[in-house]
Amino acid sequence: MDTEKFLQYVQAENKVEPKDMMPEDYRKLLVRQISQHAHSEVVGMLPEANWITRAPSLRRKMALLAKIQDEAGHGLYLYAATETLNNGEIAADRDSTYNDMLSGKAKYSSIFNYPALSWADIGAIGWLVDGAAIMNQVMLMGNSYGPYSRAMLRICKEESFHQRQGYEILMTLCRGTKEQKQLAQDALDRFWWPALMMFGPNDDASPNSQKSMNYRVKRESNDSLRQRFVDVTVPQAEFLGLKIPDKNLKWNEETGHYDFGDLPWDEFNEILKGNGPCNKKRLETKRKAQAENAWVKEAAIAYASKVKELTK
Ligand code: 3HC
Repeated sequence: MDTEKFLQYVQAENKVEPKDMMPEDYRKLLVRQISQHAHSEVVGMLPEANWITRAPSLRRKMALLAKIQDEAGHGLYLYAATETLNNGEIAADRDSTYNDMLSGKAKYSSIFNYPALSWADIGAIGWLVDGAAIMNQVMLMGNSYGPYSRAMLRICKEESFHQRQGYEILMTLCRGTKEQKQLAQDALDRFWWPALMMFGPNDDASPNSQKSMNYRVKRESNDSLRQRFVDVTVPQAEFLGLKIPDKNLKWNEETGHYDFGDLPWDEFNEILKGNGPCNKKRLETKRKAQAENAWVKEAAIAYASKVKELTK
């Protein structure tokens, strides 16, 4: 495989398809990123699922159910996109990647290791977490791998509904009683910094960025996307009458961006080591679900082989 030629191909904005020849490190980078993206989608269902039975109205419950079902679908697209990279050398099949997550070997987004403590947290998750995810996923629509880029097109459309329903939950609370507005402020206080951490380490501490940029997977750097998210989100918080929990946040006339404080990277690194508030609980829940629902997979496989037998 002539990597130089391949780099010229992707850098000329051409898409790579599953059957195309590709350098092994391109394939490896994609299996890592797309499978971890899929893990984030399916683990991300857990904090929200906790609030389905506690939603304050039928309308809120329906919107939350729809969002959670969307996330499951996003996980499905992304596991399917990962499997298109399966070449027998790098294990990109569903079982291998999923079990890597269950064993703690593979990552999912740090944000899902925080608990959703109040209904306002469900609003903050929609507004901030899905808002940050949209920022990152719109960028990924332009990535060089065809199946991943196309999955992003569909996912981004659904994410904007997620973000809007979250923001509307907070708008309702902020226009409610003093206690309800305080719930919204507490949720912002708890989710602001974890949402900024979703974009990954600073560029100078991001080991995968250079290669990912060269291969036109990552199209914009972690810090640049994080900055864009801050610039867009601060006015939204102001509109709600909420205060961003960052005493260093200040509009910089010169740069045309908000300056903001350093992120709590020690906390981030602890979470990546598995020591976040909910890491253990999330993996336990997923391991238990896999064991309890193994019969569904067995039945589906048995049914598929029968159909194959009968239609030979
Ligand atoms: N949480 C967990 N791990 C993270 C992380 C985070 N927020 N940010 C970075 N990391 C990990 C990386 O995976 C990498 O570890 P690895 O080499 O073992 O995979 C390491 O930290 C160094 O980070 P890099 O910046 O070098 O890694 P990348 O170049 O891969 O950039 C990324 C990190 C920006 C998250 C990139 O992987 C990416 O864009 N991934 C796809 C998008 C994604 O996964 N989003 C997660 C949220 S999805 C979501 O929120 C669902 C929505 O519906 C709510």
